[in-house]
Amino acid sequence: MSSLFRTKSVEQSIRDTEEPETALKKSLSALDLTVFGVGVIIGTGIFVLTGKIAKETAGPSVAIAFVVAGLVCALAALCYAEFASTVPVAGSAYTFSYASLGEFPAWIIGWDLILELALGCAVVAVGWSGYMRSLLDTAGLHLPQWLSGTHNGDFGFDLLAALLVVALTLVLVAGMKLSSRVTGIVVAVKVTVVLLVVIVGAFFITGSNYDPFVPPSQEVEGGGGIHAPLIQLMTGFTPANFGVMGIFTAAAVVFFAFIGFDIVATAAEETHNPQRDVPRGILGSLFICTLLYVAVSIVVTGMQKYTELSTDAPLADAFKSVGHPFWAGLISFGAAVGLTSVSMILLLGQTRVFFAMSRDGLLPRAFSRVHPRFGTPYRSTLLLGGVVALLAGFTSIDELAELVNIGTLFAFVVVALGVILLRRRRPDLPRAFRTPLVPLVPILSVLASFWLMLNLPAETWLRFAVWMLLGVLVYFVYGRTHSRLGRGTQAGDL
Ligand code: ALA
Repeated sequence: MSSLFRTKSVEQSIRDTEEPETALKKSLSALDLTVFGVGVIIGTGIFVLTGKIAKETAGPSVAIAFVVAGLVCALAALCYAEFASTVPVAGSAYTFSYASLGEFPAWIIGWDLILELALGCAVVAVGWSGYMRSLLDTAGLHLPQWLSGTHNGDFGFDLLAALLVVALTLVLVAGMKLSSRVTGIVVAVKVTVVLLVVIVGAFFITGSNYDPFVPPSQEVEGGGGIHAPLIQLMTGFTPANFGVMGIFTAAAVVFFAFIGFDIVATAAEETHNPQRDVPRGILGSLFICTLLYVAVSIVVTGMQKYTELSTDAPLADAFKSVGHPFWAGLISFGAAVGLTSVSMILLLGQTRVFFAMSRDGLLPRAFSRVHPRFGTPYRSTLLLGGVVALLAGFTSIDELAELVNIGTLFAFVVVALGVILLRRRRPDLPRAFRTPLVPLVPILSVLASFWLMLNLPAETWLRFAVWMLLGVLVYFVYGRTHSRLGRGTQAGDL
């Protein structure tokens, strides 16, 4: 039993990063990290989900939902920042948990992160392909249905989404510096487009569109069944959209728009000065994005009545609705460019978690060899890139996004608990960033994340349970016996 909770010491984690065979290049600064953060945070969430959620779940109060989700993330970010600055090693929540909670919880979280990042990357790639197809259509180029993804039950392989993932995989194999440079340009385009929406759109706001700001609650036909949020089923409420409960249901979904700030922590090992730069990168990018989201959702629901918002390209279509197709085209272009970086960084985070798990022997060690010239974990990158390309080709967006959210929120819960535990077990460790008011802030973070999880559909909980059970199986069949920590193949304080 006790071997399930064996911990890898923080010193050991840091020593591992110094083994030449599996050491990553240290080439990132705080600015690179913030750019990475904004690059991955602003994406499908704001460009696609805002319209869908305003129309179906929250009306103009989707802006409040963004604030709620942003607060949940801020609490989690304060915990992530302490952990990342104390344990600056590739692998994010996985590594943090290995150092504080033990091997089995760490495995669980690593397995969970693979779900979050791989599916997240696939979701965003599919969103990107939608925008690209709409741009191609404008240019008179039409892809046949069987290469355009699955729509309304008609199966199709999403060729563009799969090609995007393959291209990004190659960029990542070629090295971090190149990828962060590409990201820099993409982020600039994306932020400009978002600012354009806010500034230009503000001139087209009609006050009456905000009435009602919180639409009255409406019962879901047929009770929603397994599609209803778990909290509504548990408390015996009749499942409903809109109203005050609708704001929380909306928050649990638009939470997707914030996913990514945690990934900045996964690049800690590749940062010059992680103790100082990682907290700055995480909190900075989260703050910028929250401001932009609230502004965008207020503007868009002011431009067009929420009942009329489009669910595919709400930002662009709001401009069409006020008679400005030029701005709409520009926004579609920016969205397509912007989603590229989101997809890439999700993929990057994913390969790094896999890399860290393999370096610890919980997954086959061969995946943690770095490329002799590029200094990147090319084997795990190629393997995962291939799998994600297939996922992106064969799956559609909606439910996957909810699955990504539950996985991420679960990771937040574990990280917050980890901060409290690590303070108890290793009060001596240097912490460049300290979470304020421990244990209050971590406890609030646990409660807030769990609350959002409860607002996700029962069905999502079921799928999540299946994935996690599969993980437990893999651990007991492979990881437990191959763990480097368990075999004592590492020097140091086992
Ligand atoms: N936050 C990212 C997005 O909105 C995942 O697409």
